[in-house]
Amino acid sequence: MDINLLSPYKLGNLELPNRLVMAPLTRNRAGKGNVPRPLNATYYAQRASAGLIIAEATQVSPQGQGYPSTPGIHSAEQVEGWKLVTDAVHQQGGRIFLQLWHVGRISHPDLQPDGALPVAPSAIAPKGEASTYEGPKPFVTPRALETAEIPEIIEQYRQGAKNALQAGFDGVEVHGANGYLLDQFLRDGTNQRTDEYGGSLENRARLLLEVTEAVTEVWGADRVGVRLSPSGTFNDMHDSDPLSTFSYATQALNRFGLAYLHIIEVNESDLRHGGTEVPTSVLRDRFTGTLMVNGGYDWERSNAVLAKGEADLVSFGTLFLANPDLPKRFAANAPLNQPDPTTFYGGGEKGYTDYPFLQAS
Ligand SMILES: Cc1cc2nc3c(=O)[nH]c(=O)nc-3n(C[C@H](O)[C@H](O)[C@H](O)COP(=O)(O)O)c2cc1C
Repeated sequence: MDINLLSPYKLGNLELPNRLVMAPLTRNRAGKGNVPRPLNATYYAQRASAGLIIAEATQVSPQGQGYPSTPGIHSAEQVEGWKLVTDAVHQQGGRIFLQLWHVGRISHPDLQPDGALPVAPSAIAPKGEASTYEGPKPFVTPRALETAEIPEIIEQYRQGAKNALQAGFDGVEVHGANGYLLDQFLRDGTNQRTDEYGGSLENRARLLLEVTEAVTEVWGADRVGVRLSPSGTFNDMHDSDPLSTFSYATQALNRFGLAYLHIIEVNESDLRHGGTEVPTSVLRDRFTGTLMVNGGYDWERSNAVLAKGEADLVSFGTLFLANPDLPKRFAANAPLNQPDPTTFYGGGEKGYTDYPFLQAS
């Protein structure tokens, strides 16, 4: 029989009961101090039938925050808060990784310690507006990191990885996608440095690789994934040659023996914003490990790519957000709840823990 979404998968030494992964989803519902709370535990536990949950992007330091009420993994209270989540998911028989995040320039002094400027590879402001507690405000020009500050950034990720281990996660995903700090270093539209972290492909990929190395030292590589968005334009991203940039980064990641590489594929908005598609097949050929794909997948399309061997796992964002029992619904060919974008970011239970489960017939 063909492999499909409901086929099990061995991810390192983790046995996934199916190949449906819950993609990381920022929901801006952390409690005071950006500490996860019981409501967050309920939300994730509801989705424990995923082969794997990748919990939302979580800042590794106060400087890494770019939106209101996103959770952190840098304080003792946050570690305790996340334990509520990991315990609840494990009690339901699930597995959960944490996505480690530093937003770089996608922030605002209002969200930064002491009202400081956000940091980035180069002092280039993104177009658009930052999300602050007082609503949208124009992005500011970030401060370029000094070369001597980069080891501290790597240490923030290392500590975040240690804290995630303490909080009871099953692994971590390094957020190298969507125009945040590591992606800002990778692409020449945002990285105009002249030190060893800018210029050549090798130099632009250096921070991603050094962060990945630090995190794998904490977890072991088979519990670490990396997420990239090679065709993405979100957060005002561009690169003069994405095919070369991401082919290089993908091949360089082979050295670690990671749990997986997670690729966000091109979408309509990327094409509208002048993005160039980097075909997944190119990265499949270059990456020697497990490949997870994401972006607008449904049951049929997922099964087609899995059966053809074009990917090993598929992650679902909006469909998992709206369907806590997505694997069961797919298995039963049942109708799906529609996601409500007005409740994606911020708020309480509504649009978070109140999406209905399939009723037993
Ligand atoms: C509400 C929302 C929050 C998101 N938050 C994150 C995030 O924290 N980290 C991340 O890498 N991607 C994030 N994304 C992107 C999703 O993980 C995913 O790539 C996107 O939704 C496309 O997949 P889909 O078509 O299955 O929804 C977010 C998307 C949405 C809609």
